[in-house]
Amino acid sequence: MKLIPFGASGLSVPAIAAGCMRINAVTKKEAGRLIHTALDAGVNFFDHAAVYGKEAGECESIFGSLLTPSLREQMILQTKCGIHKNTGVYDFSKEHILKSAEDSLRRLHTDYLDVLLLHRPDALMEPEEIAEAFDRLHRSGKVRFFGVSNQNTMQMALLEKYLRQPLITNQLQVSIAHPAIIAQGMNVNTMKPYAPDRDGGVLNYCRLKDITIQAWSPFQYGFFGGVFFDRERFPKLNEAIDRIAETHHTSNTAVATAWILRHPAQMQVISGTMKPERFLAMCQATDFVLSREEWYELYYLGAEIYEASQPPRP
Ligand SMILES: NC(=O)c1ccc[n+]([C@@H]2O[C@H](COP(=O)([O-])OP(=O)(O)OC[C@H]3O[C@@H](n4cnc5c(N)ncnc54)[C@H](OP(=O)(O)O)[C@@H]3O)[C@@H](O)[C@H]2O)c1
Repeated sequence: MKLIPFGASGLSVPAIAAGCMRINAVTKKEAGRLIHTALDAGVNFFDHAAVYGKEAGECESIFGSLLTPSLREQMILQTKCGIHKNTGVYDFSKEHILKSAEDSLRRLHTDYLDVLLLHRPDALMEPEEIAEAFDRLHRSGKVRFFGVSNQNTMQMALLEKYLRQPLITNQLQVSIAHPAIIAQGMNVNTMKPYAPDRDGGVLNYCRLKDITIQAWSPFQYGFFGGVFFDRERFPKLNEAIDRIAETHHTSNTAVATAWILRHPAQMQVISGTMKPERFLAMCQATDFVLSREEWYELYYLGAEIYEASQPPRP
């Protein structure tokens, strides 16, 4: 497995991480098989969130029940806090961050988290409080590194003014059919739909500040619209993916993963599959590199899908 630098942490991490949002959709035995498949493939990075599951904490609990101390020591465990499940309430208060981290530690059967992320922006966030919570978690050895998810440039910059630990990562939605963070820079100073700057240039900000972008939902279009490997719905994109897969003697899954890995920002792809064979197909993406022409062909076809999923202009 290819390793990439993980922000300013000094850690080298696998270019693909195993996302655990859907771990409650399979049996415990199948979940265990996925974990071991990942570890055997050199993927020791697992992504969680306190809210994953039908009830908050369900996915972390399933995962935790499968861990032994020696297994845990082989892993980099990341989770997220800051959402009250099914209420629309976001919460970056010191009290919530500390309680959520403690709950995650208990459910994951571990006494430290490698990485804790703020899950989705809280409009009422007070960075001083977040800094206090992070200090306490860091000093006590309960959290090694911190990051954010779904934040724009100015939200990160505001946090950075107060935090005493660097932001290591920003987890954002990125896929061929959701290339928003890339497409904005391609349409600067034009009248095209991607031209408005909706994220403050988050891609380049992260590169400038050595913040690793983690790409979530690497195969979805829209907001959990489904996977874009739907040949009837997206014939042009799938024809191109399949043709490129044939050239590289690989699968459509590997090509779609390789498209994200080809970007020089060195993003980490967060997988979502619960199928070991599909997970291994993703891992093959680190064995080849898409040409510039291949990358751009997929970019334009994916951007078309993304644009079509936007609401009509008033
Ligand atoms: N920070 C955030 O706000 C945020 C939001 C969402 C997700 N995430 C993280 O990102 C991870 C990945 O997200 P995701 O699960 O949405 O990723 P995804 O890989 O885009 O989607 C995974 C889903 O697609 C299915 N799938 C994949 N390839 C398929 C194919 N060729 N045909 C049919 N179905 C296919 C998988 O089914 P199988 O299991 O059958 O393969 C699974 O149900 C999550 O686990 C979580 O850790 C973070």
